[in-house]
Amino acid sequence: MKMNLDNSPPIEAQTECLVIGVTEGGPLSPAATAIDKVSGGTISRMLESKDIQTGLGKTVFLHGLPGLAATRLLVAGFGKQEKLTLARFDRGCIAAGKALRNHALTSCHICVHELEFEHTEISRRLKQAALAIHRANYLYTTTKPLKDDSPAPMQSASLQGGTELQSALEQANAFAAGFEKAKILGDLPANICNPAYLAQEAINIAARYDQVELEILDEDDMAELGMDAFLAVSRGSANSGKLIILKYSGAEDDQKPAVFIGKGVTFDSGGLSLKSGENMMQMKYDMCGAAGVIGAFVTCARLQIQANLICIVAAVENMPDGDACRPGDVITSMSGKTIEVLNTDAEGRLVLCDAITYSERFDPDVIIDVATLTGACVVALGHHATGLISNDDDLAQDLLAAGDSIVDRAWRLPLWEEYQSQLDSPFADMKNIGGMPAGVVTASCFLSRFAEDQRWAHLDVAGSAWKWGGDDGASGRPVGLLAQYMLDRSK
Ligand code: BES
Ligand code: MN
Ligand code: ZN
Repeated sequence: MKMNLDNSPPIEAQTECLVIGVTEGGPLSPAATAIDKVSGGTISRMLESKDIQTGLGKTVFLHGLPGLAATRLLVAGFGKQEKLTLARFDRGCIAAGKALRNHALTSCHICVHELEFEHTEISRRLKQAALAIHRANYLYTTTKPLKDDSPAPMQSASLQGGTELQSALEQANAFAAGFEKAKILGDLPANICNPAYLAQEAINIAARYDQVELEILDEDDMAELGMDAFLAVSRGSANSGKLIILKYSGAEDDQKPAVFIGKGVTFDSGGLSLKSGENMMQMKYDMCGAAGVIGAFVTCARLQIQANLICIVAAVENMPDGDACRPGDVITSMSGKTIEVLNTDAEGRLVLCDAITYSERFDPDVIIDVATLTGACVVALGHHATGLISNDDDLAQDLLAAGDSIVDRAWRLPLWEEYQSQLDSPFADMKNIGGMPAGVVTASCFLSRFAEDQRWAHLDVAGSAWKWGGDDGASGRPVGLLAQYMLDRSK
């Protein structure tokens, strides 16, 4: 969807739909005030009579209002004025976006960011609103093309505002492109989106941007590097694994890069520790970490941010063929540390540990891995927060702040050494599972052993990157958190 700014009076906007926000107990926004005036007090009267509801997420379409050039008006509720926060504002915008999405509209003009709260700047609100409307407009069509009688995604939208908001809008558009990329990749089935598909995606990205270079390692390359932890996962699959390395150079060569590492398990059957049918159904989403880092990479490249960024995708399929890794096998990772693989379904940490070791050659400033790593994270945090674990307080703080400021939020969990002994093994340096207690933490303990001398953070997106059932699919998270973190760094 194309989005641009328009500073002419909203009541004159020649559009299929004008969009305003209202709160309970707050003043009417400038656009709402103007509409109220030309329509003989319709807005105030309908608020009074509760025909317009102010509750957060409520929406109503009004047709043929006198004095409006627009065909219709969408009034979106944002709840109690004194309770309005950026997170609640985001929810109201998504509800408005969904209402637009379900209508066969081709254009709209948006004024919701006029609502003031919490001393937020207008540019912040515009960015959030534009991003929310973009995200709500997404429709998966690859294997289910749009039918003639169902509403197509909106083609263009304008937002109230002048050139002073141009950079905020450009950010929103670039963030939206990253989210969309991540959502499409996440939603694609595993028979299409396999490791080779992710590699092709990287080839396309590298071809599109001058500042981007690409390297792809195949299984032979990885065998030569001693990446036996990665290969232990890949071995059981007919689709061979790839390590995909995208490099974005937006700053001087001597500036240390941030490294993002994405878990790209394009399908997780569990391997020989086979998942139940019930638990396997959703496992095409097990590459959402990869989708997230690729999406954020696209956002950064589009914005030409002044920072260096390396994005490593560990693309692999976890399957149980005759050559598959057995429970109890002991393997030697690229770092030289040995691992007793007691459960082949704890495969994410195996591919990530070798990718972390590999990333050391880039002399990174920070390493951030992103993975749908544990079911335990879904139990702990549900679908709202990404789990964050880090060995560096400043890095953790920066990531939390970035997530808060774009409403793609994370919540930190501990990495105390007391948890480490759950990984003790009589047969190797460590086991790949830590038992039932604190599954998110012990998975992170495992990874932390490969990032000992690094500023490292791990984002568990098992709950936040996708939702199952209904019309939910991949969320595109944590593209917002990651891209905002890079944007903040480049300042
Ligand atoms: N990909 C799964 C984690 C997952 C589960 C993501 C549910 C999204 C929803 C991961 O590879 C896995 O299977 N983890 C195991 C680890 C266990 C064997 C220690 C899990 O969480 O059950
Ligand atoms: Mn698994
Ligand atoms: Zn997995």
